[in-house]
Amino acid sequence: MTHPYDGELRARFGLDPDRDSAPGGDPAEEIPQHAWLRQVLMRRTQRRFQPRRVPESLVRLLLAAAFSASSKSDFQQASALWLRDPARRERLAGLFPDMPWIGGAPVFLVFLGDAQRLARIGELRGHAQDNGTMEGFFNPAVDAALALQTCILAAETLGLGCCPISVLRNRIDEVARILDLPDLVFPVAGLCLGYPAQGGFISMRLPPAATIHIDRYDDSRLSELVDGYDRRRDARHSIADRQRLPERFGTLPFYGWSEDKARQAAMPEGIGFAAYLKAHGFAFDEPATE
Ligand SMILES: Cc1cc2nc3c(=O)[nH]c(=O)nc-3n(C[C@H](O)[C@H](O)[C@H](O)COP(=O)(O)O)c2cc1C
Repeated sequence: MTHPYDGELRARFGLDPDRDSAPGGDPAEEIPQHAWLRQVLMRRTQRRFQPRRVPESLVRLLLAAAFSASSKSDFQQASALWLRDPARRERLAGLFPDMPWIGGAPVFLVFLGDAQRLARIGELRGHAQDNGTMEGFFNPAVDAALALQTCILAAETLGLGCCPISVLRNRIDEVARILDLPDLVFPVAGLCLGYPAQGGFISMRLPPAATIHIDRYDDSRLSELVDGYDRRRDARHSIADRQRLPERFGTLPFYGWSEDKARQAAMPEGIGFAAYLKAHGFAFDEPATE
């Protein structure tokens, strides 16, 4: 029996869902068919947009969906900033000339981890708290990420395309000034939004055998699984002609995803973000116990 999501699982993982039991599991078991799930499995980031306007009421609806995401302890520590002022948008986009979609997308949102609101609510109610702890940082970061992804899925459901933008954190001081961010509020990622100008392509994911662990963590097959993934991904979409920093790392006859990501991760990113957070309310301590 062919797996009901055969096409989507092949597209996402480049594997045969029946033969390579991992992506699809046992197809003999009943699996509901659902168009939305197909769309999630086939989703992709978009960076080029039609000039078509996205109505304000639609953006507000997507934000309502975003804030329907789960929230740790119902603390509701995500915020979103809709950057509508052309002058501020231009200043922000000017910081990242390599990513013209930041200035060009019809809509630009910024999803913020917001530890300040809960701290202020503590003050309003007269209950002292310290929300600059590690927990105080982590919970808003997770809330903002969940709101971001919920916004993306809602937008894609309605035919829009999105591109999250975490590069904002690489120029955090300037970004915080442009957006007037107070202490204890930090960007998790921006979000470009609009009607896609192209079909885009599905980014193949690591095999589930590398990312899903049953009962106990086991990465003993990582090397072999990554090698296979590199080959499958290369066969679909080669990046051999885009070797990163050859003057530092050399040029390889086979250049796959893992080499590219290892090179990328070896270069520092987000410099200044930790210092910014420490200077703006986060001590990252353990919570004080009485
Ligand atoms: C938190 C986060 C931050 C990202 N930041 C950027 C960014 O700054 N610029 C960019 O062009 N894409 C960015 N992306 C998009 C990723 O590059 C993209 O999701 C990834 O290549 C996988 O592609 P897919 O979403 O089409 O599967 C970001 C994605 C996430 C989830």
